[in-house]
Amino acid sequence: MVHKVKGVVARSKGAPVTLETVLVPEPGPGEALVDILTSGVCHTDLHYKLGGISDDFPFLLGHEATGVVSAVGPDVTNVAPGDRVVLNWRAVCGNCRACAKGQPQYCFNTHNATQKMTLEDGTELSAALGIGAFIEKTLVAAGQCTKVDPDADAAAVGLLGCGVMAGIGAAINTGGVKRGDSVAVIGCGGVGVAAIAGAALAGATTIIAVDIDAKKLERALELGATHTVDSSKEDPIEAIRALTDGNGADVVIDAVGRPETYKQAFYARDLAGTVVLVGVPTPDMKLELPLLDVFGRGGSLKSSWYGDCLPSRDFPMLINLYRQGKLDLDAFVTERITIDQVEEAFEKMHSGSVLRSVVEL
Ligand SMILES: NC(=O)c1ccc[n+]([C@@H]2O[C@H](COP(=O)([O-])OP(=O)(O)OC[C@H]3O[C@@H](n4cnc5c(N)ncnc54)[C@H](O)[C@@H]3O)[C@@H](O)[C@H]2O)c1
Ligand SMILES: [Zn+2]
Ligand SMILES: [Zn+2]
Repeated sequence: MVHKVKGVVARSKGAPVTLETVLVPEPGPGEALVDILTSGVCHTDLHYKLGGISDDFPFLLGHEATGVVSAVGPDVTNVAPGDRVVLNWRAVCGNCRACAKGQPQYCFNTHNATQKMTLEDGTELSAALGIGAFIEKTLVAAGQCTKVDPDADAAAVGLLGCGVMAGIGAAINTGGVKRGDSVAVIGCGGVGVAAIAGAALAGATTIIAVDIDAKKLERALELGATHTVDSSKEDPIEAIRALTDGNGADVVIDAVGRPETYKQAFYARDLAGTVVLVGVPTPDMKLELPLLDVFGRGGSLKSSWYGDCLPSRDFPMLINLYRQGKLDLDAFVTERITIDQVEEAFEKMHSGSVLRSVVEL
């Protein structure tokens, strides 16, 4: 049986998204069919729509989702129909050289569903990050389902499926932020503010939020920033140094992903400090830095895919902290919208008024 459901599709580069009928197959071996409850609107969805990730149009957008498993293929044992799950886009293989070295967070062979979802005319859809969750039902690899407590708010915990996990993980897993560290975060959208919340959870004592939008900075203060820098008005490198005894921060996280913000991060970190790139650059971007500065300043320059998370370890742990009142996931949910409002949500992303719009299905 094939399911006919409505989903949000980006048909061609830059064109407004449209609500289309999508055909979703029954799960085959290793696959799970999931009824989506909520899906957050992430900047990566906008990147897809604008052609910044790949040219494999049409895309089925949406990937920060909570759902309920409705069917599983033969041989699936990690989840069963009725399970509440948060979807992840890095289902680890267990066999590649990263997994074999005991570092599954770097798995080089992550799984997605083998079968394709299609438009009614048979055109295959590319699911955003192998998920595609602005839809009533989606097909994923069973390993992309992480079972979670059904009592926690779906909209809030679903954000762990991408942006919030990427941000928290950029601070805690990739950046290795420790008690007493100074941390600066450039770009305070959903990902950047999550990095701030992650730095606060890890015990950083100076947490500097940097953005070009004053509204974003106000919200960053509510989620744990101790200082703010409006980089549309002042030089963020000088400002971060001034707030860290002239030295620069121990860890600087670039949650924008542009050459200019990366350079700011590079020079705003202390000697031997760490830069974490979690914002996603586009294929046309180039970085130029004096190699002597790369050498002379020491430390480490790291990239963070998905916050170097292990969904099976990190989602339940963060949901526990949320339920204990130590991590305010509710604060990331600015508004709840319907499936036909995704295009408006992209516009709001630019207006700065929203941290996350979450589609409720
Ligand atoms: N690495 C990962 O695994 C991962 C996961 C999710 C998202 N992302 C990426 O992270 C980035 C941020 O995503 P988001 O959902 O938070 O986006 P967002 O649009 O909600 O936030 C971006 C923020 O950056 C600010 N900004 C833009 N240009 C700036 C500049 N020059 N200097 C300072 N601030 C600036 C904006 O005002 C905004 O507050 C995107 O590139 C997204 O694709 C990466
Ligand atoms: Zn692997
Ligand atoms: Zn995302």
